[in-house]
Amino acid sequence: MCGIVGILNSQSLKSEAIEILKKLEYRGYDSAGISLFSEQKIKTIKSVGKISNLEKKSKNIKDKSFSGVIGHTRWATHGVVNRNNAHPFANENLTLVCNGIIENYGQIQNRYKEIPKNIKSDTEVSFYYLSYLIDKYKDSDEAIKVFQKTIRGNFAFVIFIKRNNCFYILKNGSPISISNKNQSFYICSDSSILSNYHDTIFHCEDGDIIKIYESKISYLQKKLKITFQKNISYQNPYDKGDYQHFMLKEIHEQPSVLKSTQSKYTSEYFVDFETKFRHLFDGDKIVLVGCGTAYHASMVGEYYFNHFTNKEVSTELASELRYKKINKNKQILFIFISQSGETMDTLMALKYVKKMNHKSIVITNSLESSMIREAEVTIPTYAQKEVGVASTKAFTCQLLSLANLALEVGRMEKTISNQIYKTNIGLLTKLPSKIEKLIKEFTPGAKIISKKLAQANACYFIGRNIAYPIALEGSLKLKEISYMHSEGFPGGEMKHGPIALIDKDTITVCLIPKNDLFEKSVSNAQEISARNGKIIILSSVRNMSKINGEIKVINMPKENIIDTPFIYTIPLQLISYYFALYEGTDIDQPRNLAKSVTVE
Ligand code: G6P
Repeated sequence: MCGIVGILNSQSLKSEAIEILKKLEYRGYDSAGISLFSEQKIKTIKSVGKISNLEKKSKNIKDKSFSGVIGHTRWATHGVVNRNNAHPFANENLTLVCNGIIENYGQIQNRYKEIPKNIKSDTEVSFYYLSYLIDKYKDSDEAIKVFQKTIRGNFAFVIFIKRNNCFYILKNGSPISISNKNQSFYICSDSSILSNYHDTIFHCEDGDIIKIYESKISYLQKKLKITFQKNISYQNPYDKGDYQHFMLKEIHEQPSVLKSTQSKYTSEYFVDFETKFRHLFDGDKIVLVGCGTAYHASMVGEYYFNHFTNKEVSTELASELRYKKINKNKQILFIFISQSGETMDTLMALKYVKKMNHKSIVITNSLESSMIREAEVTIPTYAQKEVGVASTKAFTCQLLSLANLALEVGRMEKTISNQIYKTNIGLLTKLPSKIEKLIKEFTPGAKIISKKLAQANACYFIGRNIAYPIALEGSLKLKEISYMHSEGFPGGEMKHGPIALIDKDTITVCLIPKNDLFEKSVSNAQEISARNGKIIILSSVRNMSKINGEIKVINMPKENIIDTPFIYTIPLQLISYYFALYEGTDIDQPRNLAKSVTVE
């Protein structure tokens, strides 16, 4: 799971490859490498860690005598993080990079004596296997075809073979796109990056083997013409402005992206909802699907649908759904939520339900993603590019999308009146200013709380009903960027086990909005305090004095069910951010993580 770049015929191969790899770091930053190549030679530079290390290492390399470059940034799956396991894998005739996993690499490794037995990387095994095939077949095209037929898994390969000066792109499952103008080609696993280079683009499809030879691009095995289409252009999101981190910038961008997303929905996207969407909602059930933060958004969506409609609704983790039996005889609408639109677990689950003839909607922030190309209907979120690995603005835009969808379905099916619909849309429209105020007012408090967290051994988050997924999300944010041990629980479940974790060295953040479960949630906080656990209460109810023990109360603005998840998310984002800042972690690129996980 990684980022790939390829460039043919450009004036500044090395610097452009490095510039693109920096933008691809969200896909992993364990190690990186580039191979510069021409008909005469291949030169490879690799380094462990971030692209800045590779940049330093390749500083004195001259690229003028080369015609192309391939590059890679790695998120380790097979084989430890070291220089050897960094891509590209290269010899004097061949260089290649891969994004994905070759599932049958073990069998291939066992079958051929030409492949060393001590190597652990699936891509390195593939590299030795392809070198063997190139030696065996006189014709490199033939070798590539046999290679593609044998390897199994989800992958994208970019390959240069010096012997015949040919460049190949293989795709199965993992995204890879090409932009082109005249002689020059840019290849990248994130198509949005390509809009900075050429205004035409071609998205490879599963099973494709594309060959570029003497600036001519063709299919190796399909007798089809490659047609480039107009590329969407993006603003440059890779500028932190005055912010210290992308995460903080993106937290502060929430009012503006929520505003533009809501205005797109009310003025354009959901207008005439019944005509556009009725056919999707005539089935028996709705299942919401996602991974990580997007899964938490799905859970909030479940509460929204449950509240505003009479639909049977449930939530699934994409990585689990894919391997479950799904009732073919029931009509189920699956709603997939994914910031990147590329997460392999979610993409494979989408392909799976499509195969079973179920209906699907994708809610995504990426208008050029693989999921968009698979989905029956797409609902875009307009959060703009999110660079920080920990999702913030993309999450709240996902919530907004689900809130609107549940309200539209409720109105269409008459489970809510026009008046309730209007009131709630009004609340969503007012959200941006409410959130702007909250960010401003809560920032000093978040800094103080972050210092308190530094004295604790673990931090738990509890919430009930619609605040429960927000407790999970708060906990995920904290562990993702600060590495502190943290869990999220439904408040009512504490007494069934997790309360055993509570002692004086733990802090529990209790989300207590004013709703039907208010009293019960207060009791849950009380039970923790009675066991000497420190608690921080976030609530819109002002009088919490009856709780004894070491508590800190944060006054939240008044909320309704529709805006509760947004309002309670903001302080948790800020607490995580300021605590991670205090701890000195790598906030935008936390250890072991990647923003878009394109392996299963
Ligand atoms: C990774 C990221 C998470 C993200 C999840 C789903 O695990 O580290 O932050 O929530 O993928 O990503 P998606 O792009 O599908 O929303």
